[in-house]
Amino acid sequence: MIFNRNNKKQVVALLGAGSMGTAIVRRIAASKKILLGDISEKALERVSADFKRSGYDVETCVVNALEKKSVVAFAKKAADLGPVMYFIDTAGASPNQASPEHIVNLDMVGTGYAVDAFGEVIAEGGAGLIISSQAAYMYPIPNEDELQIVNASTDELTDLPIVKNVAMQNSGFAYMIAKRVNHLQAQRAAATSWGERRARINTISPGIIVTPLAYDEFNANGEGYQAMIDASAARRVASSDEIADAAAFLLGEHASFITGTDLLIDGGVIASIRTGQFKLQG
Ligand SMILES: NC(=O)c1ccc[n+]([C@@H]2O[C@H](COP(=O)([O-])OP(=O)(O)OC[C@H]3O[C@@H](n4cnc5c(N)ncnc54)[C@H](O)[C@@H]3O)[C@@H](O)[C@H]2O)c1
Repeated sequence: MIFNRNNKKQVVALLGAGSMGTAIVRRIAASKKILLGDISEKALERVSADFKRSGYDVETCVVNALEKKSVVAFAKKAADLGPVMYFIDTAGASPNQASPEHIVNLDMVGTGYAVDAFGEVIAEGGAGLIISSQAAYMYPIPNEDELQIVNASTDELTDLPIVKNVAMQNSGFAYMIAKRVNHLQAQRAAATSWGERRARINTISPGIIVTPLAYDEFNANGEGYQAMIDASAARRVASSDEIADAAAFLLGEHASFITGTDLLIDGGVIASIRTGQFKLQG
């Protein structure tokens, strides 16, 4: 059966076909062409079969977000499929899954490669979204370091003092700094490459969202996470679908005046930290 014969479909490209990414795509991609990118061939097979069963038009591409060449090829493949209207980047690893080097290279530098590559192909009126984290709000980076980050190219990021001297100390620092850098990468792109193409780009900083990645964190530090949940205003975790709701808004036309900004969706965790209701360990 051919469900949709329209051959001028807009393209939705997703880097990181995991839990949050696929929930977002499902929300926005009806009638569009979906390009799923992930390092895991198995994940791509499973997720694309799922989408196809629901009538979506899907293609897949094995891509390693750690490699600039691979990310550039992914962006080119997206552009070859049609006008790239949406790009979502959720490829990431959390503190209990990886070394500081891996987190810096994936969550920070890999995201930079993707923002740069899609900044070359995003269509006029298109929109991008990077999934950052509430962790971005947990380590205040001094202003002078933020200025260096904003002015650095992606290839220069790992040479910056904040990355070499602080992020590389442990996976927790690496994650908090990488996720804050994501906000600055979106700001920079919104004002330059993406803005020049009349495209928007924003970040979402989720709190605790129940996904396989979150289970790795719970298994390593269940008590800490429970205390964080108990101290938050919402007193609960959230699902990927709740992030997808906000993502659909930020990617959609009702958000056409919103670019270069971050939306924190954390059930009040950061508010509880900022007001001293909850104290981060370590
Ligand atoms: N789940 C949470 O509680 C939470 C909270 C805040 C932020 N985040 C962030 O949200 C994003 C998505 O996380 P999720 O919870 O949906 O996790 P997930 O594990 O379901 O998805 C991550 C995907 O990234 C892919 N990936 C990993 N390394 C890659 C690489 N080198 N190249 C290409 N793809 C790669 C994985 O195969 C996986 O499919 C991550 O950046 C994570 O840091 C998650």
